[in-house]
Amino acid sequence: MDIAKIKEQARAGWSMGEYTGLSEMLRPAAQRLADACAVSAGQEVLDVAAGDGNFAVACADEGATVVASDIAPGMVEKGRARTAAEGYGIEWLEADAEDLPFEDGRFDCVGSVFGAMIAPRPRQAAEEMFRVVRPGNTVGMTAWCSEGPTYDMFQLTRNYGPPAPDGLPRLEEWSQEQVVRERFDGLANSIELERATLPWSADSPEEFVAGMERHAPMQAAAKANMAPDRYAEMYEKLVEMARGWAGGDGPFEVDAHYLLIVARRRG
Ligand SMILES: C[S@@+](CC[C@H](N)C(=O)[O-])C[C@H]1O[C@@H](n2cnc3c(N)ncnc32)[C@H](O)[C@@H]1O
Repeated sequence: MDIAKIKEQARAGWSMGEYTGLSEMLRPAAQRLADACAVSAGQEVLDVAAGDGNFAVACADEGATVVASDIAPGMVEKGRARTAAEGYGIEWLEADAEDLPFEDGRFDCVGSVFGAMIAPRPRQAAEEMFRVVRPGNTVGMTAWCSEGPTYDMFQLTRNYGPPAPDGLPRLEEWSQEQVVRERFDGLANSIELERATLPWSADSPEEFVAGMERHAPMQAAAKANMAPDRYAEMYEKLVEMARGWAGGDGPFEVDAHYLLIVARRRG
């Protein structure tokens, strides 16, 4: 794997798109993770691959002091602007989940909502998250499952992008219990897993896909980087896929399945 290239593509790709619409779709999972990690006042929390700060904000609402980090400069800019506008004193910085610039054991909780799951070397991301949390304390993640709308979109868009580099794990592997246990082996002394769903709705399949194009960074990046006719074909296939969820062209609601992972670092 050309790790430097993957990271460069992540920095550029995840900086694209408006993001606010997708952020809203993910927000309930961030609140759920903060609750599952029992984040509370007086704690210091790190949001890894924070996007525009959903988990950071949920933790700050509980009274925690929060640092938010993300690999993409454009995302850090959006997050910093959002949390300042909403009146939160959250510290932001650019950081790779696989190389966190913090001292060992600094945080009371380290969480990542659909973010650390994207890092190309999952064991390295896990080691980093456990390194910077205090022994006995909590690492939390959410990860997409291999079913539902996100999985359908991964499967479809994979057919249109360049082939995945050899050895790059599939994102949905994080949703398999055995894989989580292997990736956390020797790092965690307890792991709790819970399946959950996000209810996603739209006025029509067309509106759903147009919203993704506007807000989802990787779809915006695909539009910018693919030949226009190839992108148009993928777009039409995405609309067809959403029609399948909707059972037609009208309004719909669909459950996006994810796994909630809460683990404690060995003392
Ligand atoms: C689907 S977004 C989720 C963002 C946010 N946690 C939320 O709830 O909205 C995925 C995020 O992971 C970030 N990301 C991808 N690879 C990363 C890496 N190796 N290290 C840190 N952040 C990464 C992206 O920049 C993006 O902000």
